[in-house]
Amino acid sequence: MTNITFMLPDGSKLACNASEGLSLMEVALQNSVTGIIAECNGAAACGTCHVIVDEHLWSELDPVGEHENDMLDFTASAREPGSRLSCQIKVDARLNGALVRIPTEL
Ligand code: FES
Repeated sequence: MTNITFMLPDGSKLACNASEGLSLMEVALQNSVTGIIAECNGAAACGTCHVIVDEHLWSELDPVGEHENDMLDFTASAREPGSRLSCQIKVDARLNGALVRIPTEL
């Protein structure tokens, strides 16, 4: 299991145990994380699974793909350097101990 903590839009934290191989979006939905809607069910077509990952993960995770980048540009009004679509991040050991922030707006 991989331990991931979500920081919710109200600033509270929710610690979760995540199974490797799931997407970060699926883990968020399983744990009813506020602010993760996932309208397109992981097709990278809606932007409603926007999260912001810790700076130390920027170089650890697989880079943002071209389609993910375009979708973040198109949908995320609150895009930050650590912005990602959580449906495009697979859970593995690199995320163990990660703090993943949910933006206050999409
Ligand atoms: S669930 Fe729609 S873009 Fe991630």
